[in-house]
Amino acid sequence: MTPSIDMTVHPIVEGFFDEATNTISYIVRDPGSDACAVVDSVMDIDYAAGRITHDHADALIARVRELGCRLEWIIETHVHADHLSAAPYIQGALGGRIGIGAGIVAVQETFGKVFNEGTEFQRDGSQFDRLFEDGDTYEIGTMTAVALHTPGHTPACMTHVVGDAAFVGDTLFMPDGGSARADFPGGDAGQLYDSIQRILALPGEMRLFMCHDYGPGGRDIAWETTVAEERAHNIHVAGRTRAEFVEMRQARDATLKVPSLIIPSLQVNMRAGEVPTDQHGNPMMKVPVNGL
Ligand SMILES: [Fe+2]
Repeated sequence: MTPSIDMTVHPIVEGFFDEATNTISYIVRDPGSDACAVVDSVMDIDYAAGRITHDHADALIARVRELGCRLEWIIETHVHADHLSAAPYIQGALGGRIGIGAGIVAVQETFGKVFNEGTEFQRDGSQFDRLFEDGDTYEIGTMTAVALHTPGHTPACMTHVVGDAAFVGDTLFMPDGGSARADFPGGDAGQLYDSIQRILALPGEMRLFMCHDYGPGGRDIAWETTVAEERAHNIHVAGRTRAEFVEMRQARDATLKVPSLIIPSLQVNMRAGEVPTDQHGNPMMKVPVNGL
């Protein structure tokens, strides 16, 4: 058990669902001060039109202002492959520091090659304000948050625990959704199982907040559950051995299509949410033909 976890601290968590990408962004508030954090923001893109807008991020910004909160952190649970981060846009409006797992350097190395980036693309994570190692802590007002390395979906995945709330990224889905794919470069189904077990070893009453929900079986979109619920009912994990999970995960991943926004998402998110530019400084992205 990590000593920084204090179940008597109850952050106020608000989820903001993005219908275009099934992503949930969060505002996490300290009940003891005016401090807050944003987790996994979304920047809107019409990929066919090459058009980027900020309606989802503007809603987060408006809410933080309405609450009169001070934004201290803009957290990315990992390098998302299915939506673009709005971290720098939000930082420009509200301040705060952008943080991600230290495994980002592995992701930058891999996709720096895929997108044939030049030397101006730094592969040292320096686009971010803070790189979290496993067990690193940081403050949101009077609350202490701890970042736990939970790789498997990607090498940079971290679960952020703040009091009795944990933001699991794509490590887990709601109990009836199971788990996220583990077939991206640097992903590993066995590692994902181990990371999930680490989350399930947290206190049973810990609130868990998902990064995605797809409403399986037509149920309403949901994003909050508990460790106890996941332990008992997660359809990919409950009652499965590590070997059984790996077999299931790999078989399932072999049937999944490439996420529709992976090409713009990676180019933006490996830059902490900055849109790349061409040699003239104009925002521009690439499509690596047969490169993924
Ligand atoms: Fe993801």
